[in-house]
Amino acid sequence: MSYSEILSFVQFIHYFTIIIFLTFNITNVLSIYEVGVDYHAFGTNFTETAFLTQYHISNVRSIVLVQLQGIADRGANFVTLDIWFGSEPGKITDEHWLATFPMSAQETTNLNQYAADVASIQSKIDDHRLHLNIALFWLGIADYKIGNLTEGFGSDYLNASEFTARIEKTTDCIITAISNIRCSDGTLLVQTVYLEAEVMIGAKPNQDWFISTHYPRFLNQITVAGFTPAIYFLVDAREEYILDKDYIDPQYPALNGHRCMYWVYRSLNFLKIHQLPFPKRIDFSCYIDRNTSTYANLTYHILNDADAALSVLDAPKSYGIAETYYFIDDTQRKEFGQAFALEALSNPRLSHIRFWTTPDAGGKGIHIAYPFAIEDFLPPLKKISIN
Ligand SMILES: *[C@@H]1O[C@H](CO)[C@@H](O)[C@H](O)[C@H]1NC(C)=O
Ligand SMILES: *[C@@H]1O[C@H](CO)[C@@H](O)[C@H](O)[C@H]1NC(C)=O
Ligand SMILES: *[C@@H]1O[C@H](CO)[C@@H](O)[C@H](O)[C@H]1NC(C)=O
Ligand SMILES: *[C@@H]1O[C@H](CO)[C@@H](O)[C@H](O)[C@H]1NC(C)=O
Ligand SMILES: *[C@@H]1O[C@H](CO)[C@@H](O)[C@H](O)[C@H]1NC(C)=O
Repeated sequence: MSYSEILSFVQFIHYFTIIIFLTFNITNVLSIYEVGVDYHAFGTNFTETAFLTQYHISNVRSIVLVQLQGIADRGANFVTLDIWFGSEPGKITDEHWLATFPMSAQETTNLNQYAADVASIQSKIDDHRLHLNIALFWLGIADYKIGNLTEGFGSDYLNASEFTARIEKTTDCIITAISNIRCSDGTLLVQTVYLEAEVMIGAKPNQDWFISTHYPRFLNQITVAGFTPAIYFLVDAREEYILDKDYIDPQYPALNGHRCMYWVYRSLNFLKIHQLPFPKRIDFSCYIDRNTSTYANLTYHILNDADAALSVLDAPKSYGIAETYYFIDDTQRKEFGQAFALEALSNPRLSHIRFWTTPDAGGKGIHIAYPFAIEDFLPPLKKISIN
């Protein structure tokens, strides 16, 4: 190449890089901030109104269909179905919130019907559709925090191989229930399936066993089926923790000054040690308890703490709020919701939020049910007004 050819080649590369750079930034600016609901019950009394186990009852299904329509009309982008496993198959119980372990044929059919119903909903305001995520919880006979390897796990002390077989069967039932449900554009309706909520390795007995034993197969099966496997974490979001700038971690210097990341860091570090991949987006429960700061300041601080501490482990600077408060006071809720929305507008690192409902989403004993003021959590530009 002559000198001038080299020069124009260099210029070409230069412009090409600028174009790539611009495209990348535009994509970033337009990146989605999705707002949704942890929706699993049609009323405030969780034990009576959790709907998955009762979805074959036509009255339950009709109520849920009406609520889903309202949730979409009010601007939600998705719903996340939380399923608690933990009752013995075949045992009659009025604990409607507890699905059997492993998942039953009826519950699998119900999940399939519910997913089809979510896919059928279209907002009457702007025609957008909902997508669905699923989060699995383990209680009762599936509560791995009870027991140990020799005694067995859960309230019935199932031996480890039986326990694992039931986790695998449950995973397979979930996949069966959701694999044939697609959006109108042909993509799968369900996006993320979480194996476990609020992973806090070191805080919860046997969670290290549970994750290292079950997460590898779960990752594989869920991925092969076309969904995104994940777990989510927990940020201890008390103001005095968030603002504890003098915090020194006894084990991990990366956490110095970033105390609210205590359990997220330890849990990601556990994944790293076990050569398990990090979720694509780091999701965490984030119940902010403030004293004197604004929610906006605390939210900004939390995400900066995540960037600073978790990047030491090479975690992606990409976050989702997996659970948070839904305050009953309108002013407080709006300030709270807008703190996240404004953060997302100023920085694409936060791309997902869903608020908790029943039980306790408004604080201890304050159970939240439909209807929900979704708009309080939406960015100002995306606000939809309905009468
Ligand atoms: C919810 O319903 C259950 C079953 O009917 C009942 O035992 C319980 O007291 C109710 N809880 C509340 C908070 O009303
Ligand atoms: C399991 O739990 C039993 C009863 O609490 C205890 O005696 C035993 O030492 C524990 N085994 C292990 C391996 O921790
Ligand atoms: C574990 O429990 C199952 C079901 O009760 C039983 O069939 C199996 O033999 C047990 N396995 C071991 C290793 O104890
Ligand atoms: C902040 O509020 C919590 C309860 O919301 C309280 O326990 C704590 O003592 C307060 N801290 C300060 C420094 O006021
Ligand atoms: C706190 O938020 C206010 C606006 O709400 C902003 O002016 C200020 O810079 C923030 N402070 C910090 C430390 O983020």
